[in-house]
Amino acid sequence: MTSLKNDRYLNALLRKPVDMTPVWMMRQAGRYLPEYKATRAEAGDFMSLCRNADLACEVTLQPLRRYALDAAILFSDILTIPDAMGLGLSFGAGEGPKFARPIECQADIDNLPIPDPEQELQYVMNAVRTIRRELKGEVPLIGFSGSPWTLATYMVEGGSSKAFTKIKKMLYAEPHLLHALLDKLAESVILYLNAQIKAGAQAVMVFDTWGGVLAHRDYREFSLRYMHKIVDGLIRENEGRQVPVTLFTKGGGLWLEAIAETGCDAIGLDWTVDIADARRRVGHKVALQGNMDPSVLYADPARIEQEVQQILADFGAGSGHVFNLGHGIHQDVPTESPKVLVDAIHRFSQAYHQ
Ligand code: CP3
Repeated sequence: MTSLKNDRYLNALLRKPVDMTPVWMMRQAGRYLPEYKATRAEAGDFMSLCRNADLACEVTLQPLRRYALDAAILFSDILTIPDAMGLGLSFGAGEGPKFARPIECQADIDNLPIPDPEQELQYVMNAVRTIRRELKGEVPLIGFSGSPWTLATYMVEGGSSKAFTKIKKMLYAEPHLLHALLDKLAESVILYLNAQIKAGAQAVMVFDTWGGVLAHRDYREFSLRYMHKIVDGLIRENEGRQVPVTLFTKGGGLWLEAIAETGCDAIGLDWTVDIADARRRVGHKVALQGNMDPSVLYADPARIEQEVQQILADFGAGSGHVFNLGHGIHQDVPTESPKVLVDAIHRFSQAYHQ
């Protein structure tokens, strides 16, 4: 077993005792940090930053230099898989992602290749290897992917969407097409995450950002079913340690029991969920990650600390909680706020781990 100086995050995911509640922040590397903006400018555009292992490593480590975070997350994006499938990803200045060749018909799906992670996505694996080396065992490294459903929304809509009309049309008018696409994506995600684990990721997380826009039966059929396949296909032990899997469906609070049934180790919660209630429902089966509203980071330190104390009290005593935001950090929060957050979590949580 390679040595790890801080294993709080991994232990909490496995519901093993910890001295204090671990914390990391979704999108912890990003534009709220001036040093991120500088490195991104040096790289040129966002995908060039992702493709450069040294610069991707640099931005992964930036938030850890400022804050006492208990985990690092690979700097990359969920849209690397559709890009590697040939859809032509670009990020226009100040805009969301765009695909030059979105998925429209059966032939588009039949022609999609399943990317080889050590070929078309080798730049991601190189970033994982570089980051693991540079972390020097300080904290564990989280690998990640999008869920098949969430990736499919971008691939069919051609970019970000508010109404999801194209993919919902496919879902109701030609469900077999959508299933064929989701099958290919699930297979690709399994290969991709297993390659990240082999390259050094010590835990993995699946982001199902858009699962919450599905009708409740459709959620099981078009999103959860494919995340279940992924959980079943993942390497769960590496380097003599368990590799925990976290599933995060934004807006998934109604479906926690079903998510826990997949055999994942932890469920990510957005801020609409009462974490006390979530623990009563699924805390005997899985750990919970979350769930502060990212907008709390706009408030003054006293208000941030109050929110931390409330969430810690709601979860209650014992292990099984990884503190996080309920979604990604906003790009215009003061850089002092995450410091207040992280320090408060570590300070106030010790009383719950006696
Ligand atoms: O958390 C981290 O620090 C690791 C890096 C990370 C990024 N994207 C970097 C990024 C992670 C884990 C993601 C996941 C991701 N990407 C998701 C799932 C999580 C979520 O937020 O719901 C989604 C839906 C995407 C797709 C995506 N990538 C969009 C919609 C955008 C544009 C929106 C925006 O914030 O500009 C991106 C670009 C992106 N990915 C940025 C970063 C730091 C911003 C790019 C920039 O520097 O301008």
